[in-house]
Formats: sequence, C-alpha cells, structure tokens
Amino acid sequence: MREVELTIPEWEQAIAFLTAAGQKCDDERQEFILLSDVLGVSMLVETINNRSGGATESTVLGPFHVVESPRRQLGDSIDQVGAGPPCVVTGRVLSASGAPVPGASLDVWQANDQGFYDVQQPGVQPRANGRGLFTADADGAFWFRTIVPSHYPIPTDGPVGSLLNATRRHPYRPAHIHFIVTAPGYRPLTTHIFVAGSEYIESDAVFAVKKSLITEFAAVDDPSLAAGYGIANPFRLANFDIVLRPVP
Ligand code: BEZ
Ligand code: FE
Repeated sequence: MREVELTIPEWEQAIAFLTAAGQKCDDERQEFILLSDVLGVSMLVETINNRSGGATESTVLGPFHVVESPRRQLGDSIDQVGAGPPCVVTGRVLSASGAPVPGASLDVWQANDQGFYDVQQPGVQPRANGRGLFTADADGAFWFRTIVPSHYPIPTDGPVGSLLNATRRHPYRPAHIHFIVTAPGYRPLTTHIFVAGSEYIESDAVFAVKKSLITEFAAVDDPSLAAGYGIANPFRLANFDIVLRPVP
C-alpha cells in the first residue's frame, strides 16, 4: 500500500472485488481458488510442494474433478457421445527405477470436443462423460479410448472474468486430459497431459503447462491397429508413461 500509495477509491474497489468473489462462492463454485489459479499462485504452491525429483511433474487439480469417476475396464471408452477425433491413450505407471507399478489406480477426466466438462452441461452430455477410473495391469500398463479434447475457457461469469478482462488476458486453457494416479507406497500424483500443438499451449490462463507434460497425439492410419483397440480408423494415439515417487 505504501509503495503504490493506494487511494480510498482504489481500496474500495479492492474490497468490492473480494466481496464479489466471496459472494460468487457456493458448494460448487470456488471463486477464490480460481483467483489463485489466474494469479499463478495455485501452480506455484503446487510446484513448491511437489518437486518431482525425476518423477512425472504435477499440475493443478482444477474445479471439474468429481469424487467418484465410474470404474472402467482397460480399453473402455470414457467418451459416451462419439463426437470429436477418436483417440487412444496408452502408457505405463512406473517407479523411478523403471519398475512397473502393477494395479496403480488412474482417475481421468477431460472436456469434450466443444470444450465443456459433463458437469457444465447436465442434460446435454451424459453424466460421467469423459471420466473413468482405471486400474493398471500387472505390467503397470493402462490404455483407454476417448476423443481428443478441445481447449476451453475457464469460468468467466464472475469477478475473475472481470479481472481477466480488465487486464486484457484471455481465459483459455490448452487442450488436456487430467489424471490422478495413486498406488500404495507412492505419493499420489495430480497431473495433466497436454495435447501438443493445442491452441493456448504457450499462454495457459492458469500457468499450468509444464514442457514434460506436453504429449504428441499422433495421427495413426492403421486399420488393424484400430481394430485391435476397437476404434474407428484413422485415429490419434497418445503415449505417456507416469513415474511415481515413493512415500518418504
Ligand atoms: C481445469 O483444468 O479443469 C481448470 C483448472 C484451473 C481453473 C479452471 C479449470
Ligand atoms: Fe481441465
């Protein structure tokens, strides 16, 4: 306050902003976390508290995680609509030594091809569209079918939206798929894979992109591989191994 010699009207405006942020909060909406996100505070705190030490890097949880994703079998589709480019996501859950982590649990969730999560479009998207809870096999391997998600705007109908507007910042996040990966004896990992080449990959509104999380969603034209995965040909294939840290 000393540095900028805050005026009384400026102080009043700051109080009004914080009051509006509080009034926007309810059981579903947390405007203060969104404020922390767009100021880069969430990502900084996340990074300080999860120095990776060679493991997969973490990133923000975001507001669209639901407590119970539906349990699905390896190879199932998390997409229940069929719009958007068909896609297979594969990988292995490993320890830092490269040993597989059999039976690791992977909670995944993503927006659809229009950039909306199921919870933003009740009655439009089926419940739990774009979500799944998978268990890695004995080799730590996982694979599932989906569609390539779109980039999307964070919620802008509250004071955080006004803040972005006033500071001439866009509200978009690049396309990504969220993961929470857990296994006994390892620290839980909250992360995303980002679609390489997505719009806004260089200017995420919440500063959550880390280079190591950018993943090629390679175009594949191989009818027999597509048939093996039970997906339409051609399709996109993303491969991403996840390395967990042991609990200290
Ligand atoms: C998300 O990726 O779901 C998200 C993260 C931070 C703010 C808004 C959305
Ligand atoms: Fe997201």
